[in-house]
Amino acid sequence: MRKNIVAGNWKMNTTVPEGVTLAKEVNEKLAAITPKCDVIICVPFTHLCPVNEVINSEKLGLGAENCADHAKGAYTGEVSAAMVASTGATYVILGHSERRQYYGETSETLKEKVALAFENGLTPIFCIGEVLEERENGTAFDVVKKQIVDALFHLSAEDFSKIILAYEPVWAIGTGKTATDDQAEEMHAFIRGVIAEKYGQEVADNTSILYGGSCKPGNAKALFAKPNVDGGLIGGAALDAESFMGIVTAF
Ligand code: 13P
Repeated sequence: MRKNIVAGNWKMNTTVPEGVTLAKEVNEKLAAITPKCDVIICVPFTHLCPVNEVINSEKLGLGAENCADHAKGAYTGEVSAAMVASTGATYVILGHSERRQYYGETSETLKEKVALAFENGLTPIFCIGEVLEERENGTAFDVVKKQIVDALFHLSAEDFSKIILAYEPVWAIGTGKTATDDQAEEMHAFIRGVIAEKYGQEVADNTSILYGGSCKPGNAKALFAKPNVDGGLIGGAALDAESFMGIVTAF
């Protein structure tokens, strides 16, 4: 059966020393408990190596927030999937709405990134989600389905099974405006149905679908209690060890 997962997305926050301190705090707090979910932190590229040195990888997974859509070569400033993997990280967030919105990521570039992540043994945490206008005009379900179909449905069932999905309604990210647990459940159930249509019920049932968008210790329990919500991708609340652990222990 699918895993429950709580993953932090630090975004462009913390210097290296600050990030190492935060990772150490999370690691220490995790050492004291037996969490009922997998726990992952996704950190800036500069932080991957030093953070990897201070965490127990048996209890805390490490991921990047992006990778390049080319394997190597003359792409100044880019960081390849192979480079990410060589730090010891095993996850990579792909298709975050901030990357789609500010850096022009499309399903075509994301296909390349997913392929390169797989080639390098990285597990993609693949983000999908509608903007406010799409939620309000009733196209949210079509938009989310198209994001999945266009970027992922060329994959074999075996490869698709390696993906973690994260539904992040853009209007809920960093706004303090969480989707209600019923809104999240409705979309997650829809997404699972879309996967089942293409790959069958077993693959759909085994896919972890995380919710992201203003998830906090105070609302995580209700969200995670929903049958199709398998955890969270946490932004702001992942920058404080105590609130991040408050979400981890919501399971
Ligand atoms: P917030 O939790 O800050 O709303 O961010 C969610 C997110 O974008 C995680 O990837």
